[in-house]
Amino acid sequence: MFRIVTDTKFQVGFESFTDTTAYDRLELDGELPGWLSGTLLRSSVSLFEVGTTRMRHWFDGLAMLHNFTFADGEVAYRSRMLGSRAYREAQKAGHATLSEFGTDPCRSIFKRVQATFHPELTDNGAITVNRIGDEFLAMTETPMPVQFDPRSLETLSTDHRAKAPGDISTAHAHIDPGSGGMLNYALKIGPKCSYRFYTVGGSGGPTVVATAATRRPRYMHSFGVTDNHIVLLAGPLTISVGKLVGSALAKRSFLESMEWKPELGTEILVFDRHSGELLREFETETMFCFHHVNAFERDGRLVVDVCAFEDPAIIYELYLDNLRGGEARLPQATLRRLVLDLSDGGVTAEQLWDGYFELPRINYRACNGRPYRYAYGVSAAPGVTEPQWFESLVKVDVESGEAKLWYEPGLYPSEPVFVSSPEARAEDDGVVLSIGVDAEARHSELTVLDAASMEPIARAAVPHVIPFGFHAYHYSKL
Ligand SMILES: [Fe+2]
Repeated sequence: MFRIVTDTKFQVGFESFTDTTAYDRLELDGELPGWLSGTLLRSSVSLFEVGTTRMRHWFDGLAMLHNFTFADGEVAYRSRMLGSRAYREAQKAGHATLSEFGTDPCRSIFKRVQATFHPELTDNGAITVNRIGDEFLAMTETPMPVQFDPRSLETLSTDHRAKAPGDISTAHAHIDPGSGGMLNYALKIGPKCSYRFYTVGGSGGPTVVATAATRRPRYMHSFGVTDNHIVLLAGPLTISVGKLVGSALAKRSFLESMEWKPELGTEILVFDRHSGELLREFETETMFCFHHVNAFERDGRLVVDVCAFEDPAIIYELYLDNLRGGEARLPQATLRRLVLDLSDGGVTAEQLWDGYFELPRINYRACNGRPYRYAYGVSAAPGVTEPQWFESLVKVDVESGEAKLWYEPGLYPSEPVFVSSPEARAEDDGVVLSIGVDAEARHSELTVLDAASMEPIARAAVPHVIPFGFHAYHYSKL
């Protein structure tokens, strides 16, 4: 029996929270594995009202950082607002001064793109964190990462050397399989637009390692990488350069400068990771993707797993008025496998599991770029066909199509972060960490699940609600 829910309780996760906190020991229910140490670093979207500015879109909320530090069976927790230029200037001015994804309070796009050093673009690193050696960066999709101290969460620099060589980037950088540095994507906008990939190592600025010209740039949120290839899946959500730079009087947000052109289909660009050469362009069905899950080579083919939507309607559902008004209906993303034949350019597609699947994670260290079995993600509650928000966690066996779902009514979980046990003998030997919002009790909890069974083994209570966010990473050592 399918059901449609109208449930507004989850809206507590869209309320602003800006407190700097520090708890040496969170109250625990259950027992943490003795081996679990290190730090879970997470960003959240935490401030939606800045003086006179009301952010319009969920993605626009100003960023907060959180860390959960595990040691000796206990977990400590801290929170602090990211001291980005976007946050500091807004505090000073009494309104937002920089343009966010869906909110452009007072500037013309023309000025933003004309400016060589992007002084008008936001650096609100709310999407995720990345690491280059000992440096930790909060990142969004503009070129400017914000460096922070992973222990105190204090902001260290808004002028970091890892600026992306372009105008639009992605927060979903990879660990470069060659150098161990950061490998990321940038779109250079100008009379001639180009997709770029770049690496940043232990010192110095970015090095461009691959480029491809594009006459009609598209919006990308992530990409895939294997030992030998870089994969860019470009659905037909185009960035209108004309809208972006041609309307000096317009006060459009970045979101309003994008156009969905389903007739263009999806392009998949495959680069040689070593030489940077664009090896082949593939064409496949129209889809919109935020997230790659994994990519790997098998039998002369490139397997590319993604979370695919039919169209980008999800972006428009995430306007705050929809979310707060109980009107949101999240379109279904499904776990899709694209198999690219590198010799003849053919593409086949299949759905790996029939449920909703987003915010994907894998055992990254062991499996990224390699054949793998398990993908973890968020999903709908059992039997719900039109979810309003994420209500369950799921682990999908991508070989068999079997899935294990964990669902607890009233708890709205976040992205499941896999942490491998130090003596792991199996791909799923470890735990899954997820920060959920207990809507009824109005607080958050860090849930620790056994990754093999997807059963909870411990819960750490956070005394307040951590607003919803996107991504988190666990680091064994800082
Ligand atoms: Fe993302």
